[in-house]
Amino acid sequence: MNSYSGLAGAATGFVIDNNGLIISGSLVGASGVILTRIMCKAMNRSLFNVLFGVMGGGSSGGPTDAIYATVRSTSPEDVASILDGAQRVVVVPGYGMAVAQAQHAVRDLAKLLEAKGATVEYAIHPVAGRMPGHMNVLLAEADIAYDKLKEMDEINPTLETVDVAIVLGANDVVNPLAKTDPNSPIAGMPIIEVDKCRTVVVIKRSLSPGFAKIPNPLFAAPNALLLYADAQKALLDIVKAFKELG
Ligand code: TAP
Repeated sequence: MNSYSGLAGAATGFVIDNNGLIISGSLVGASGVILTRIMCKAMNRSLFNVLFGVMGGGSSGGPTDAIYATVRSTSPEDVASILDGAQRVVVVPGYGMAVAQAQHAVRDLAKLLEAKGATVEYAIHPVAGRMPGHMNVLLAEADIAYDKLKEMDEINPTLETVDVAIVLGANDVVNPLAKTDPNSPIAGMPIIEVDKCRTVVVIKRSLSPGFAKIPNPLFAAPNALLLYADAQKALLDIVKAFKELG
């Protein structure tokens, strides 16, 4: 869409003989093509598949009830206690953070954790959210320092030393089926490997799937806990409980 809008602008520039429109349209069109290429690579899908393919048409990963049989839920109070003992925390933001506008609340929680000596970083998947750079823009809006945002390739090899991963409204970008199920619509897509972290707290409202419409076995992993709530409300409740711990 980015690219098409630029190319349409450039074409209009030729029609009305406007050099400014031709140059700016070409720049937007070219940058859109580059972004599209990066996005296709990050999803491990061809351009044809992205334009004409349908997500969710492949393997579902098995019966959902069986996959989610061992899911454990948690509360904001319990999450606050777990975070109280954590030295290294990584937040994985996704589309749900954008929907809930939870970027300011996550910054407030991070400040509290940092004041207690923990490090807090943000693991950014290239296609988290619904447009390139979606998470970066939202976190920058909340004044989160850019050096705390870590790209997937940089943070993945270090995740084993993470005490708590907070999966904040993300789903497909942390779905291990991408590595284990060759028939999955996201097969081959690199993911943020939070399953390696000591504890994973997943904040989302239900067990509903994400964009790819497939279940996520991460939610039922032995080290995972589900906090069923809107991302912003959950974080505000965790902040409140954390403050009460003293
Ligand atoms: P998704 O896999 O789409 O999952 C988002 C999750 O957010 C959902 O499971 C939903 O669960 C939860 N959610 C929604 N509203 C919420 C709220 N208010 N509070 C808390 N959680 C909420 O997101 P993702 O992990 O960011 O992955 C992005 C997906 O979009 C990928 O499949 C990617 O290929 C695709 N995509 C990306 C782009 C770009 S360029 N970024 C473009 C097109 C498509 P609940 O409903 O249970 O809360």
